[in-house]
Amino acid sequence: MSRRAAITGWGKCVPPVSLSNADLEQLMDTSDEWIVERTGISNRQLSHVETTDLAELAARRALACSGMNAEEIDLVVVATCTPEILCPSVAAMIQDRIGATNAGAFDLNAACSGFVYGTSVVAGMIESGFVDNVLLVGAEKLHFAMDYRDRGTAILFGDGAGAAVFEPSEDGAGVLAVDLGADGGKGGTMLIRSMGSMGEPSPTNDPAIHRLHFEGQAVFKIAVQGISASANRVLELAGLTADDVDLVVPHQANARIIDSATRRLGIDKDRVFVNIGSLGNTAAASIPMAISDALDAGRVSPGDTVVLTAFGGGVTWGSIALTWGDRTEPAGVHEGELPPTDMTCFDLLQDNLDFFAPLHADDPPVP
Ligand SMILES: CC(C)(COP(=O)(O)OP(=O)(O)OC[C@H]1O[C@@H](n2cnc3c(N)ncnc32)[C@H](O)[C@@H]1OP(=O)(O)O)[C@@H](O)C(=O)NCCC(=O)NCCS
Repeated sequence: MSRRAAITGWGKCVPPVSLSNADLEQLMDTSDEWIVERTGISNRQLSHVETTDLAELAARRALACSGMNAEEIDLVVVATCTPEILCPSVAAMIQDRIGATNAGAFDLNAACSGFVYGTSVVAGMIESGFVDNVLLVGAEKLHFAMDYRDRGTAILFGDGAGAAVFEPSEDGAGVLAVDLGADGGKGGTMLIRSMGSMGEPSPTNDPAIHRLHFEGQAVFKIAVQGISASANRVLELAGLTADDVDLVVPHQANARIIDSATRRLGIDKDRVFVNIGSLGNTAAASIPMAISDALDAGRVSPGDTVVLTAFGGGVTWGSIALTWGDRTEPAGVHEGELPPTDMTCFDLLQDNLDFFAPLHADDPPVP
């Protein structure tokens, strides 16, 4: 058997502050009915701590689940498009905090496709023998870039983190095939312009630049076509058909996108894992959080064929076909929690609301 990269640990960190559709009704002209029908989302969670704190807890939980010590990790990779700062990377901060003293560390940005891109990098590094054990985290604090009076974007996104530990396997388990793609020409459909070196050498104070720009319908079409074509390609590369798939864990962008794309693939709903209802779209964190929830829900069995598929800003897309290994129960549990908070979602969003208020000076009042 050739050497493959198998997931042997998983974990997630869900921040504690809820933002329900009823809460959003108080901030913008929308309704629970509209949001649920168009997106499948009822709730999202918001973080009162930084991206790195979410990533650290998910990482510690995945590590405990794998039964491994931090010193055994050779590489820490964090997929994120909302790092708390650009340098040092979130991965380097995690490496230090968890005591992964023998590990390299870097961040990777493929927006919502980040965990799939990360898995492809990790699998290549493990298969080549350059590294053995890798911690891959997807973590986002997306509410930072949200204008909570913009009903076309803010209804979709939530914060969170998920992580996986990958180990070499010689028994057939692990990543079978990878498909990655991008179309930078369509990059303007999803933009976060405020977190790079563009413009004057000072942080932007312009709310029109700071907020996520997003063309929902264009993204919708790209997403449905992109992920169904990519998942088909990865199955072909792995020598599999849709009938062989036990579970698809898609990026949780919109329930309608997931439905349309998996219908195109010929995969029925009971083989698709969906947890978008309670968490919203958490970009690079969505797939590892969904993997963790799928394991907790008993939806993954030893030897299962699992397909991960995503699309996101860039635009980017990608899919992974893998065979799950023997472990479907955690080897251990990390008991730590985030620091508690008694903030409401409105307390937590007040800075955003104040910052973006100038863009809405002429808006009619929320009905
Ligand atoms: C954003 C999205 C939910 C909007 O849904 P949609 O069905 O495309 O809706 P439209 O943009 O066509 O808007 C339809 C109407 O609903 C209104 N509307 C938009 N957002 C609304 C909201 N939150 N509540 C109520 N009405 C809303 C629009 O103003 C429009 O009204 P009009 O016809 O009077 O102009 C959808 O396009 C989407 O999910 N896109 C992809 C999102 C995604 O996957 N992003 C992740 C990238 S990784």
